[in-house]
Amino acid sequence: MKLLVIGSGGREHALAWRLLQSNRVEHVYVAPGNGGTALMKGASNVALSDPQALADFVRAQDIALTVVGPEAPLAQGVVDTFRAQGLKIFGPTRAAAQLESSKDFAKAFMVRHRIPTAIYQTFTDPVAAHSYINARGAPIVIKADGLAAGKGVVVATTLDEAHAAVDAMLGDGSLGAAGARVVIEECLLGEEASFIVLCDGKNIFPLATSQDHKRLNDADQGPNTGGMGAYSPAPVVTPVIFDRVMKEVIHPTIAGMAADGIPFTGFLYAGLMIGEGHEASCPIKVLEFNCRMGDPETQPIMMRIRSDLVSVFEHGVNGTLDQATIDWDPRTALGVVMASHNYPGVPRLGDPITGIPAEKSDCVVFHAGTVLDDSTLKTSGGRVLCVTALDDTVRATQKMAYDVVNQIQFNGAQYRTDIGWRALES
Ligand code: AMP
Ligand code: GLY
Repeated sequence: MKLLVIGSGGREHALAWRLLQSNRVEHVYVAPGNGGTALMKGASNVALSDPQALADFVRAQDIALTVVGPEAPLAQGVVDTFRAQGLKIFGPTRAAAQLESSKDFAKAFMVRHRIPTAIYQTFTDPVAAHSYINARGAPIVIKADGLAAGKGVVVATTLDEAHAAVDAMLGDGSLGAAGARVVIEECLLGEEASFIVLCDGKNIFPLATSQDHKRLNDADQGPNTGGMGAYSPAPVVTPVIFDRVMKEVIHPTIAGMAADGIPFTGFLYAGLMIGEGHEASCPIKVLEFNCRMGDPETQPIMMRIRSDLVSVFEHGVNGTLDQATIDWDPRTALGVVMASHNYPGVPRLGDPITGIPAEKSDCVVFHAGTVLDDSTLKTSGGRVLCVTALDDTVRATQKMAYDVVNQIQFNGAQYRTDIGWRALES
């Protein structure tokens, strides 16, 4: 069969790579794809993004199933467009994708269904927002309501920073319509984890646990990014925590969406803050919902799958996820992101990339912001590569990944040298 993956990041390269290992898959199209998917045997890039144009392509090529990577096409309604024409696609409808595309929707939903999350209020009026900040004090978190490509959250440690964030979003319109409404919430402490499941509207299929590193610099310092590295499994998600997250967060979310008349299908990613204390009673709160897989969490998760992934997506679109199985490699997978000069600000593009080694069964370099320009591979985005390795221990996996990072060159490359540090300590 032929498949389509929508998106252009490391997540989509990793999904396409794993799907191609199924002996039932003849070809994977990636729209629009990147330099890595352009080079991958059995895959090709398609320069389409409009939902109807994608649906026409799927019909013309007789593509059996489409998987959506990023949030933007979901918020545009690509799933609604495909389903209306009887095409099989794994992802949430536009209405269900509001769990990610509107923070205010997600917060009101969580309060309504008693899903634990930080105390908050939503504002469009800057005067009211400033006085709420003064009343609550710092630290405090300011979030743009809409999609802002990872730039919509300011964790303000001082009142000045918090007021400045409100002025930028509500006053100066720095994030456009996405920031015309802001959620201001309590700053939570603890350790973050990414909890990702597949849903078919009713059944829930959890993926292996993972954790990413959001800050740009070592020791979790510097500005927030989309993610500078990730690993799976995440030791912080013990079996007790896992069961609690399913019971306290995931089940009520899926049941709540169904009760609200917008059943959730696709990936549900709960970004969690796991607070201090005994695993049986520590606070577990939702920082955010995403309605897609994480990037770079997907890269290590895909490395650990030893069984056929196509059948899991088939169960996802057919409403039979209760019958899905995945054989997980028990080893640790860890991915180190190499980003371009000036990321997470406006990145410099067009730097030639050299030194990427051939793929091995335990180490794959997934591409994100790369483009093949006349057979020269060049940077074309903020996050460029994710070097992902698999080995018995966190330390050995980390070493393997960094040995490969050190072979790869492009001008201005930035990467963290401590991906996995929390897992090393546990
Ligand atoms: P979000 O897009 O909501 O996940 O926010 C991006 C990042 O900001 C999260 O991964 C956290 O590191 C941080 N963050 C978001 N909300 C909070 C909060 N209420 N308290 C502390 N940190 C937060
Ligand atoms: N790595 C975080 C995200 O994909 O949102």
